[in-house]
Amino acid sequence: MIKARCRELSETFLKRWENTRVRYAGKAFLTRAIAKLIADEGLGLDVVSMGELYTALSADFPPERIEMNGNAKSHKEIQYAINSKVGRIIVDHPDELKIIENYAKEAGIVQKVTIRVAPGVDAHTHKYIATGQTDSKFGVPADYREGSMLSEAVKYAVSSKYINLRGLHFHVGSQLFDTDDYIKSIEKISELMKGLKDNLNFTVNELNMGGGFGAVINPKIPAMKSAFYTDAMMNALIDNCKKYGLEIPRVVLEPGRWIVSEAGITLYTVENVRELPEITYIAVDGGMTDNPRFALYQAEYNAVKVDDTDGAIYHHKSGGKVSIVGKCCESGDILIDDAEIQEVKAGDVIALFNTGAYNFSMSSNYNCLPRPAVIFAEDGKSRIVCERQSMKDLIRGQTL
Ligand code: LLP
Repeated sequence: MIKARCRELSETFLKRWENTRVRYAGKAFLTRAIAKLIADEGLGLDVVSMGELYTALSADFPPERIEMNGNAKSHKEIQYAINSKVGRIIVDHPDELKIIENYAKEAGIVQKVTIRVAPGVDAHTHKYIATGQTDSKFGVPADYREGSMLSEAVKYAVSSKYINLRGLHFHVGSQLFDTDDYIKSIEKISELMKGLKDNLNFTVNELNMGGGFGAVINPKIPAMKSAFYTDAMMNALIDNCKKYGLEIPRVVLEPGRWIVSEAGITLYTVENVRELPEITYIAVDGGMTDNPRFALYQAEYNAVKVDDTDGAIYHHKSGGKVSIVGKCCESGDILIDDAEIQEVKAGDVIALFNTGAYNFSMSSNYNCLPRPAVIFAEDGKSRIVCERQSMKDLIRGQTL
């Protein structure tokens, strides 16, 4: 399914619209094997830390296809990115320019960059995953006027011998199901591109429009096609560029969730079932450590009992709800608050769908629970691409 998603993007975006690129957002799910898969599919990668970059390079990911994001990059991370010859650094704070300049000079290279701007659009999504609003902690406000953060940054980058400013980057938010927020942002960014051209004589040759395509949570509901987003975005960009008399820049997209989410299934073993007067708890051998998304965003999931997927749904005796909960010492350690699932007992295995994105990548060792294994399955074959953590892994590097 992950490969099919990559191919859909190639067919209906990269081939349909010229001068375009896709950089998979590794934060959604990154291991060496997924980095290799993405590289083999011909896509690029968006990384946000030294660790993500290191993981990708350890899988021989071509560095020129890697872009480095991050709102608080350290000197070390910037130096590592430059020395690794990443294709782009996406400047999130103007202070990064000086640091990039110094390390690029030291390495004897001209670093290609784009500058991230906050388009000033409040995305229709959970507030923790909206990033495009004016007061966002990401990027610089989309303001081209003399003396603004952006105009100063553009002037600095353009005058530097060691920096090649290719254009701009924006990301509206994540888990978006319509195109309105993209279109609004594209209108604002186009106005900004016109302003930069008229006021600073700076041409945006490249526009990175981030990620954010939504993933459905119910495996019985068909997924959104990527072209639903990309056609609307490209048409809006082309219309706006025409309106302002601008050349159409190279377009880069950074989808993460849409590529991997629906391919992921988490298997849990039921430890016990607790029938209380008002509620039934199904407690499993994982929880917020492998999937913190209910605790953080009240995210919804669907589950089935694996050897009885079409069996009758269990109902609580007096109409109470059925909650699938984890094993952490927290009442908020919930996987599905109000689940529809077959009757299960201790030892049964249940499958939670749509856990490919922001589960493994956000997992923790809370309560000293080891991280689960990751298994790739294709054409009836499976292989472990990331081993289950051992007890030894939990105490690695600790002293008395
Ligand atoms: N590009 C940038 C600059 C981003 O900040 C993000 C996501 C993406 C691309 C990829 O967005 P996607 O296509 O995956 O929606 N932990 C949250 C999601 C955080 C997203 C952060 N940025 C969750 O579990 O829903």
